[in-house]
Amino acid sequence: KIIVLDFGSQYNQLITRRIREFGVYSELHPHTVTAEELKAMNATGVIFSGGPNSVYGENAFRIDEAIFELGLPILGICYGMQLMAHTLGGKVEKAGNSEYGKAEIQILAENSLFADLPTEQVVWMSHGDLVTETPEGFTTVATSESCPISAMADEKRKFYAVQFHPEVRHSVYGNELLRHFAMDICKAKGDWSMENFIEMQVEKIRNQVGDKKVLCALSGGVDSSVVAVLIHRAIGDQLTCMFVDHNLNRKGEVAQVMKTFTEDFDMNLIKIDARERFMNKLKGVSDPEKKRKIIGNEFIYVFDEEAAKLDGMDFLAQGTLYTDIIESGTATAQTIKSHHNVGGLPEDMQFELIEPLNTLFKDEVRLLGLELGLDEKVVWRQPFPGPGLGIRVLGEVTEEKLNIVRESDYILRDEIAKAGLDRDIWQYFTVLPDIRSVGVMGDQRTYDYTIGIRAVTSIDGMTSDWARIPWDVLEKISVRIVNEVDHINRCVYDITSKPPATIEWE
Ligand code: XMP
Repeated sequence: KIIVLDFGSQYNQLITRRIREFGVYSELHPHTVTAEELKAMNATGVIFSGGPNSVYGENAFRIDEAIFELGLPILGICYGMQLMAHTLGGKVEKAGNSEYGKAEIQILAENSLFADLPTEQVVWMSHGDLVTETPEGFTTVATSESCPISAMADEKRKFYAVQFHPEVRHSVYGNELLRHFAMDICKAKGDWSMENFIEMQVEKIRNQVGDKKVLCALSGGVDSSVVAVLIHRAIGDQLTCMFVDHNLNRKGEVAQVMKTFTEDFDMNLIKIDARERFMNKLKGVSDPEKKRKIIGNEFIYVFDEEAAKLDGMDFLAQGTLYTDIIESGTATAQTIKSHHNVGGLPEDMQFELIEPLNTLFKDEVRLLGLELGLDEKVVWRQPFPGPGLGIRVLGEVTEEKLNIVRESDYILRDEIAKAGLDRDIWQYFTVLPDIRSVGVMGDQRTYDYTIGIRAVTSIDGMTSDWARIPWDVLEKISVRIVNEVDHINRCVYDITSKPPATIEWE
């Protein structure tokens, strides 16, 4: 496997990603990993990622220099190249001008990294410093106008470095370059697949759990579903799943969860009916943040109470993903957001954690789910917030309003699916603002609720744009909602991007 050491570049996850796409297993680790640790991981090659620092900066990240003595091939990217040059006796200097964007490089000498690739290629640069003198043993293998040493190599020691970012698509032959490194230089076999992953994990879970018992909180979402099925594959009835019905799920969802896990997979699944409890707690509360807190806390109380009733659960399974771990900040600082899962479980729980997805990206989790036989509907489920419909009924949550959201959301989902748009639109749902307006139905004046439709395209939910749903599809949705859902006499479409709005309305 190829280990990528993280020096803080926003692209570092992409490097791991690209390499996995070749069928070579790769993991991202903090730059503080030592040579000993790398050996213990059975690394076959190492990549130093880019990063925002300068090697001359006060808190510049260093590396355990013994890594250069392991005899492993090393590829330095951007900061990784500068670090390599600096550590091995070359020279790094501030560039006259920082360089961001496309550049054209020329390959100067034949070498295995650029083997068979065109001698002129477009790459993506993003740097303030550059290497001005190669260390002993290295030759310059590529050059550009603003960066005379764009790439360097010491073929004997199998050390390679590039100033540009081969992992981003703008570097036209970047992928080939990474492939040369992984397959030709590190001699990786390229036989990593989801099947191997399942086998590997099943064995690991069996070893970890032994004859003990595992509890898993199922939410119906992709991650917890996949975790449950994977662990079930490994230890069968030693796994118990718990699903808390808080009355804030979409129409049909509770039934779907029950069917999937009890019928399709024949698992031990305990459904906790906490509907009344949640509704009581939410009575009279209209502040969005208060609602969120109440729902989150109540979930923990219920889960805690019910888990205590079960005998001898030793492990708690969580659907923590690779990105959750990376985003909660590694040794390379720059915490993007703190990591919360399953609404944040209590810290004093007497469980050992088991997190078998924590090396996977979201789309890999989906592949894994399909490979394990989960229904496409579950695997491709759109994101759904932890507080559920509780934040889609604006203001106070009542049974009647929940029903309005549930029914209108169901119609929206139905029409989007019929129009074949369900995979193109990232997330779509209805919201019920706390306003009423005048309408006319038959010959009668009505004074009833307005429903809002929200549909967005996005990559990761951090930013989004409103989806351009064709007029005629919107028309069908509007007509059906107003006709079929009681107490709705008006339908509006939200045409705001994020930012400045958020995806949810609360
Ligand atoms: P916003 O509304 O912040 O939402 O633009 C971004 C994405 O996050 C989802 N979301 C949540 N997910 N717990 C979650 O697990 C939450 O409390 C929560 N709030 C928002 C939202 O549906 C969208 O996909």
